[in-house]
Amino acid sequence: MAVLRIPEEDRTLRDAPSIGRYLAERGIDYERLTPETDVSADASPDASPDALLAAYARKIDELKAKGGYVTADVIDVRPETPGLEAMLAKFNCEHWHDEDEVRLIVDGRGLFHVHPADGPVFAIEVESGDLIRVPKGTRHWFDLCVDRRIRAIRLFQDPSGWTPRYTQTGIDRQFQPVCFGAAFIPPKGPTKWPVS
Ligand SMILES: [Fe+2]
Repeated sequence: MAVLRIPEEDRTLRDAPSIGRYLAERGIDYERLTPETDVSADASPDASPDALLAAYARKIDELKAKGGYVTADVIDVRPETPGLEAMLAKFNCEHWHDEDEVRLIVDGRGLFHVHPADGPVFAIEVESGDLIRVPKGTRHWFDLCVDRRIRAIRLFQDPSGWTPRYTQTGIDRQFQPVCFGAAFIPPKGPTKWPVS
């Protein structure tokens, strides 16, 4: 289950309907997949990429029809992934893309910060079973949680359109990339939101 936090308002949402409404008002699609209707019985977080894509084929096709996505792949990140920190450094500072960022999380978790044009920055922690679509042009950044694990299906209109376009505002450094869901470990020392 996702967790959504609005640091400036010291507010946290933990139920899917409230999270969905908050995100929808800001143009972001979010849904919890149900194994009964969205996932084939043979889906497993450890399945091969092809097996995963097949297990989620119905949802992938639905998303493709709706959003014009033409390809889907599976990204698999673990603590031992070579070059992990360099990879994360590409996405943990504020940026936007020329196309939607669509992620269907099948294992692990991750933390998106979103910077709306007319509202406070908020953080959405996604985990297995969460589907999120961050529309093109949305300012955001991404971090892994302490377990450094995420496996997700990604959909693209054109993979080249997913190149990060950095804002270089530095706003990302004002927010602690701390997850609040199942992997939550309290930060050391006094915590202030956002970090100043
Ligand atoms: Fe991104």
